[in-house]
Amino acid sequence: MKVLVIGSGGREHAVAWKLAMSPKIKKVFVAPGNGGTACETKCENVCGDVVPETEAGQAVLSDFAEKAGVAFSVVGPEAPLAAGIVTAFRGRSLAVVGPDKTAARLESSKSFSKAFMAKYGVRTAGGRRFTCCKGESAGSGAGFEDAVRYVKAYFALNKRPIVIKADGLAAGKGVVITDHFSEAEACLRSFMQDGIMGEAGRTVVIEDFLRGREVSVLAAVSVQNGEGVIAPFISARDHKPRFDGGKGPNTGGMGAIAPVPDFTDAVQEDFRTSILEPTLKGLKAEYFDYRGFIFFGLMVHEERCYLLEYNVRLGDPETQAVLPLLDADFADVCGAILDGKLAGMRLAWKHGAVCAPVAVAGGYPGSYRKGDHIAVNGGELPPDTKIFVAGARLQGEKLLTSGGRVLTVSAYGSNAESAGRSAYHALEAVRFDGMGYRKDIGTV
Ligand code: AMP
Ligand code: GLY
Repeated sequence: MKVLVIGSGGREHAVAWKLAMSPKIKKVFVAPGNGGTACETKCENVCGDVVPETEAGQAVLSDFAEKAGVAFSVVGPEAPLAAGIVTAFRGRSLAVVGPDKTAARLESSKSFSKAFMAKYGVRTAGGRRFTCCKGESAGSGAGFEDAVRYVKAYFALNKRPIVIKADGLAAGKGVVITDHFSEAEACLRSFMQDGIMGEAGRTVVIEDFLRGREVSVLAAVSVQNGEGVIAPFISARDHKPRFDGGKGPNTGGMGAIAPVPDFTDAVQEDFRTSILEPTLKGLKAEYFDYRGFIFFGLMVHEERCYLLEYNVRLGDPETQAVLPLLDADFADVCGAILDGKLAGMRLAWKHGAVCAPVAVAGGYPGSYRKGDHIAVNGGELPPDTKIFVAGARLQGEKLLTSGGRVLTVSAYGSNAESAGRSAYHALEAVRFDGMGYRKDIGTV
C-alpha cells in the first residue's frame, strides 16, 4: 500500500522512516517533507509548497491522497489538526490518522483542555481562565483587571512563581513563568490588551506553578462513537532550554531520551489512574472522533503525576527517541487506530534506550543562520544510529540548513549510558557552520 505523511519536521521524518520499514508499505509520500525524507528509502516528497493548515493546502493534500490512492494519511503537526484537516479528509472518505477539529481543541485551546480536565477529574495544576475583548473585560470569563487582581492575590499567598498561558496555539511562545508581580502584569497586558499573540492571547489561563520533573507520554488513541482505548507508548523526556544544565531560552526541544528512568512502575500506575483513565473516560463521554495520537505533557512530583498539557499529535523530538524502540509494524498500529482494533494490539518495545540530541543552527532560538552545507561522514556513524532531518533541504546532492532545529541524531544502546555515548559519537560525524547542540541530553 501507499501512505501519505503530512509535515516537514524531524518527527515526520521518523514517522515516514518507521512506516517505510513495514513490508506492507510500497511507498511513503511526504508532503511537503524535507531534505531527509527526500533521500529516505521508499519515501518521496510531494506537494512542494503546500501549507497544510490552510483550506487551499488541505484541498491540495486531499486531492493528492485521492488521486494517488493512498491507504491512509498521518498528520504530524498541530496547526493543520487545529484547522480541521481531519474533518476535511473524512468529508471526502479519506482515511486519516489524527483527531477531528473538535477533539484537536484539547491542544489548540488551553481553556478548553483545562475545562475538560476539571470535568473528568484529570489531575492538573489549579488555575483560572480570564478573557479580554477589545480592551475591556468581556465574554464568559473575567477580564484583564480581574486577572491582575488574581495574580496579586496569588503572590500574597504563595512564595512560588505563577504560570501564565495564552489560550491558543503560540508555537511554544505562549507560556510565561515568573515570580515577579510586575512581570506577570506586563505579560497579561501584552497578551490580553496589546494582543502580541493575536487572538491566541486574548484569553489566558493562569496556573499554579508545579515543581517536579517533566515526562512526555505519547500514545495511540482510537475513540469513536463513545467507545475506544488509549495505548500508551514508552515514556520520553524532552530538554527544552537551549543550553546545558537547563539554562537559556526555551526552544522547540533540544533532545529527547526514551525511556525515562525515573518514570518508575509506581509513577506509571499513578499516571494510569490519575491521568490516562479519566482522559479516556472524557474522550468517550464527549463522543469525540479521536483516531490519532495524543501526547501527555506531565509534571511528576513525589511520584504523583500532574497534566501540564495535552498535545493532539506526536512530540518532536520525543518521536525520534520513541519510534526506534517500537517493536511493531507502525503501519499496523495506524491501521488499528483507524479500524478500532487498538484494544487487541500488543505494543512491544525493544529493551534498551535511545538518546536523541538535536543539532541546531547558529543563533537559534533567535534569528538563525540558513543555507549552510551539512556534511555527514557516514563511515563514522556508529551502528544503530539514525539521522532524522528537520530544518534542511536538498539542493542537488547537497543538504543545506533551512530551519532552526536542523536534525536529530537518534542512537540506540543497550542502556541509557551507551545510547548517550553513541549519540554524541555520531554527532561528531555531522558538521555544518554554526552547528550547536546540548552535550547533556539524558544526563540531567
Ligand atoms: P505547556 O505548553 O502548557 O506544556 O507549557 C510549556 C512548558 O511550561 C512546560 O513544558 C513546562 O516546562 C512549563 N509549565 C507549564 N505549566 C506549568 C506549571 N503549571 N508549572 C510549572 N511549569 C509549567
Ligand atoms: N517536544 C514538545 C512538543 O512536541 O511539543
